[in-house]
Amino acid sequence: MKILVLNGPNINMLGIREPAVYGKESYADLLALLEKSAIKFDVEISHFQSNHEGALVDKIQEAYGVIDGIVINPAAYTHTSIAILDALKAVGIPAVEVHISNVVEREHFRQISYPGMYCEKTIAGKGIGGYLLAIEYLKTKYEK
Ligand code: DQA
Repeated sequence: MKILVLNGPNINMLGIREPAVYGKESYADLLALLEKSAIKFDVEISHFQSNHEGALVDKIQEAYGVIDGIVINPAAYTHTSIAILDALKAVGIPAVEVHISNVVEREHFRQISYPGMYCEKTIAGKGIGGYLLAIEYLKTKYEK
């Protein structure tokens, strides 16, 4: 099974950016966790991070016919991006939304998630461990 892990703006700054909110683990630590998850769940994981909305849309489109499941943390684009929502709907690939912080307990402007309207599950507030839970969910539900 092929899983694509997508991360939006500032996720590359993990460990440096607001550690009280996003934790002390770095983006490199997240990539190491993805590598371990690939072995643990016997799946193929590719990953992509961008600070640009269109680049994330391109990556979702490229996943069509190639990728079996998407794990996405759209970061700030969560709360603004109809383009990412539409791209997910266009490709129709099962997707899980991940947030490192517990967005439901944060500011009002973080309470809407456009990509979340497509994703079949949202995992929030579990730190980088949320990505592992999302991969496990997709593997369990969609592995043929
Ligand atoms: C985030 C939550 C978003 O509100 C924020 O803009 C981010 C990260 C999270 O992982 O907790 O950049 O998606």
